[in-house]
Amino acid sequence: SGFPSLLKNGLSKIGVPSGVLEILFKGVDDVEDYPKIPEAKGAIKAIRSEAFFIPLYELYLTYGGIFRLTFGPKSFLIVSDPSIAKHILKDNSKAYSKGILAEILDFVMGKGLIPADGEIWRIRRRAIVPALHQKYVAAMISLFGLATDRLCRKLDDAATDGEDVEMESLFSRLTLDIIGKAVFNYDFDSLTNDTGIVEAVYTVLREAEDRSVSPIPTWEIPIWKDLSPRQRKVMEALKLINDVLDDLIATCKRMVEEEELQFSDEYMNEQDPSILHFLLASGDDVSSKQLRDDLMTMLIAGHETSAALLTWTFYLLSKEPSVVSKLQDEVDFVLGDRFPTIDDMKKLKYTTRVINESLRLYPQPPVLIRRSIENDVLGKYPIKRGEDIFISVWNLHRSPSLWQDAEKFNPERWPLDGPNPNETNQNFCYLPFGGGPRKCVGDMFASFETVVAVAMLVRRFNFQMALGAPPVEMTTGATIHTTQGLKMTVTRRMKPLIIPEINMEGLKMEGTARILEAE
Ligand code: HEM
Repeated sequence: SGFPSLLKNGLSKIGVPSGVLEILFKGVDDVEDYPKIPEAKGAIKAIRSEAFFIPLYELYLTYGGIFRLTFGPKSFLIVSDPSIAKHILKDNSKAYSKGILAEILDFVMGKGLIPADGEIWRIRRRAIVPALHQKYVAAMISLFGLATDRLCRKLDDAATDGEDVEMESLFSRLTLDIIGKAVFNYDFDSLTNDTGIVEAVYTVLREAEDRSVSPIPTWEIPIWKDLSPRQRKVMEALKLINDVLDDLIATCKRMVEEEELQFSDEYMNEQDPSILHFLLASGDDVSSKQLRDDLMTMLIAGHETSAALLTWTFYLLSKEPSVVSKLQDEVDFVLGDRFPTIDDMKKLKYTTRVINESLRLYPQPPVLIRRSIENDVLGKYPIKRGEDIFISVWNLHRSPSLWQDAEKFNPERWPLDGPNPNETNQNFCYLPFGGGPRKCVGDMFASFETVVAVAMLVRRFNFQMALGAPPVEMTTGATIHTTQGLKMTVTRRMKPLIIPEINMEGLKMEGTARILEAE
């Protein structure tokens, strides 16, 4: 079967011009010269079940680190191999775009940082990354604490009334409140209120998620777009959010113009440390539409992901009481009853490992989407431009050949004195925030946000699956959701009686100082 390629090579050696060879061997050489990517056949039905990344895992075990999946005229390459993932995301990232992701998200994110490609992406990335500098993230810690404290109050009421709580929706509201303040200094206050704007955000999010799993893009059909009540509702919700964003941009612009503050390098303003304020104060020269697209992108990127991470963390914790005890010991020791500070982030090591491990088992999003914009070679397989590619982070994170007891929730697999695991030190076997130039810009923000939330919650409460709670099953949009919520029973913890010695010292010194003052 290698004869055509032998012949082609031979002809080439005796001097037949390559142009002529291309014509002679058109359609023959691609097939014969190179190994062919394994093709998963008859798998189309499996893929239509609820969480699409589950059948992809089964296919990975059968077909390996790269295979092709075909549905009628469409085909996708499914990548679950760390070195191919590294090649696509990092080493040859310029040969890939966001492909269908950009098409699906266009209606809500426009040319925002997640879907944008090429020059627009490069310029916007350069403007936005500095906004999430260390000092900003440090300033956010108290915001994380205040927002989580609001949630704690709500849980306190539930504990008093003996009412079970649905944690997934509460986490979604917690992270919406946080990201609104953090990105454009807007208090959705969704933990207390269901305002029109909060509902509009959810309408748009649901639509984005439905579109990303819908096989037929009905929203592109011109008449449907105008007649479908659902599409009209989405358009109204978008308009409401856009109006609010435009107002916030205008207000912030006025504020920046009036400020006579000498800014430090970070353009921080105590009253408004938001990313929007940073962008305007740093003289980001950009159209209002682009700015709105970027704000909307960060709102969505930073909201559902963190909410899903917290949801699955509490689900995992509910099954491992020994992990919860260790977690509570650490938090009692490090925090006591204080709100967390930036210095605590280094000390809450085990809490951080719990987050690392939760992101391994439930990566958000479970697959990364790319399209080749040049011909390339993946492993030993040449591919053409225009291939749609799914990198299954789910498969990488649960591969039995890459991990010991891959399915087990075991924060201890990451040594406390070791480095914080990331894609680089784990050789692209672990990609909680992606990798390469398109890596998440909010990784530190999200880690601290969820460490603060977990620490404060387990410090005050014990969580158990509620009696008669529906089974916790997965479904996907952009992130992994539960099918029927995470219903839990919350009980107040007894305060620990032992106060760490360091604090005793602190108290004594304080006492002495007061006596001296009184004299
Ligand atoms: C990109 C995960 C929180 C903003 C990404 C990517 C991943 C990710 C995997 C890469 C996507 C790809 O390569 O296709 C997460 C997780 C989060 C989180 C798991 C929380 C637990 C946040 C937050 C923000 C944010 C809080 C904003 C403040 C972004 C942006 C991008 C991105 C703007 C696109 C970067 C670019 O393309 O240049 N995120 N993210 N993310 N994330 Fe996050």
